[in-house]
Formats: sequence, C-alpha cells, structure tokens
Amino acid sequence: MTRKPLMAGTWKMNKTIGEAVVLAQDISNNYDDRWKDNVDVVVCPPYVDLKPVKTVFEFDRVPVGIGAQNVYWEDAGAYTGEISVPMLTEIGCEWCIVGHSERRGLFGETNEDVNKKVKALIAAKINPIVCVGESLAVRDGGTTLEFVCAQVKAAFAGIDANLAANAVVAYEPIWAIGTGRTATPEQAQEVCKAIRETLAELFGAAVADEMRVLYGGSMNPGNVDLLVAEADIDGGLIGGAALKADSFIQLVNVCL
Ligand code: PGA
Repeated sequence: MTRKPLMAGTWKMNKTIGEAVVLAQDISNNYDDRWKDNVDVVVCPPYVDLKPVKTVFEFDRVPVGIGAQNVYWEDAGAYTGEISVPMLTEIGCEWCIVGHSERRGLFGETNEDVNKKVKALIAAKINPIVCVGESLAVRDGGTTLEFVCAQVKAAFAGIDANLAANAVVAYEPIWAIGTGRTATPEQAQEVCKAIRETLAELFGAAVADEMRVLYGGSMNPGNVDLLVAEADIDGGLIGGAALKADSFIQLVNVCL
C-alpha cells in the first residue's frame, strides 16, 4: 500500500488575519500542479484566520486544506472560550490537530480529553491529527515506545476500525519541538513503526496500513529528506518552518 504523504503546517499562535492572508497567498502563488496527486497539503492557522485563509485558497482554486489546532467535543453550550466541531465544519475545515504537547503541557489536556475530541471529529468527518510524543525524561528512562503507544491507544479507545482510516497520528518528541534538535531518522522511524503496530492491534493490519503517521519536531529543509524516506513516516507536522512560505514549500516539494 502506498500512502499519500501529508505535509501539515501549524502556525500555532502566530499570524494576525492580515499576516495569515499574506502567507496563504504566498503559498498559493507557489502552488505546484503536482501537489494534487502526490501530497496532501494542509495549513492549521489560529481559529480567527481559518475563514480568511480558506477564502484565499478557494479563490485561487488551490487544493490546500485547512485545519484547526484544537476543538471542544460538545456541539454547543456554556463552554466559554471553546470552539465546536460544527463551527469548524461550517468553515470548511477538513482537519484538526488534537493533543499537541503544548495543549497537553500548558493547558492540561488529558488522554481522555483527546479521545473525546477524536470521537467528535470523526463523527463529523473531520480528520484528526493526533499528536503523541515523549519528554526527554521518558526517552532517557528508556520507555518511549510504551509511553507513546499508550497515548495512541488512549486517543483511539472505543473507535471503530471502519471509521479510523482517515485519522492521522503525528509523532512529535517533546524535546524536538521548537528546539532545533530533530530526532534522527532512525529514532523517528522506530517510534512511527511502533505506532503503526499499535494501530494494527487496534484496527487490524489493513486499516493501519492506510493510516498516515507523521513526524514533527524541528523538521526543516535540511533534514526532511531522510525523515520522509523512512518506511513508516508519511509526512510531517511542521511548526517553525511553516511560518514562511519558502521553507514550507521546500518541505512540501520534497514529497513530489
Ligand atoms: P516545530 O514544531 O516544527 O517548530 O518543532 C512542530 C510542532 O509543534 O508540531
């Protein structure tokens, strides 16, 4: 089975609407017709930028998807400050990051929260990009694979195999995020392979073979080739290098 690579940029809490439109325009201006068949390209701006960025891509008829960086699992109600799945659906969001280590670490998101979000997204046919990854302490303690695979199992608990295929897992070692310290291709492949084996336990080998597993953590034009060449790495979740069109485009074009 050949999985189509996915390159997703997350802008985190960067870019005002004006800045976001400029960046989206810049990406659109560099669109390469070969993307359509060879790589899924997604950007995940802050909530307020989603609609303006979507409008740029729609106007230019460029097949770049948009994703949110978080969501709440209830459809509506008294949940001050939260954004629901139906709100994302109306904007035309096809993707949503869940369980990013910054949300887990800074905002107390638990494995149970991640699971509820994944279920709500899948029910609405928005593809979750589920982030998992170990701290340096866990890596140094030698329990990375157990830790990460437990996160995967918790995120997908109670989800039917026939609904799982479009979900994505992003392996993001916390010590590699925004630090310039990338996992080696061998380290990343070892964990991504273990993730796929866990997905096979949960959903069967055929579904696990279809699901995309990304690497994230200081991915840049200098290290991307060797990472995406690994058998179980199907693309990237890109932070810093996605904030400029030229580096983001270079990363995307490696998949052509
Ligand atoms: P980075 O961020 O590429 O800046 O390390 C990746 C991420 O947080 O997904």
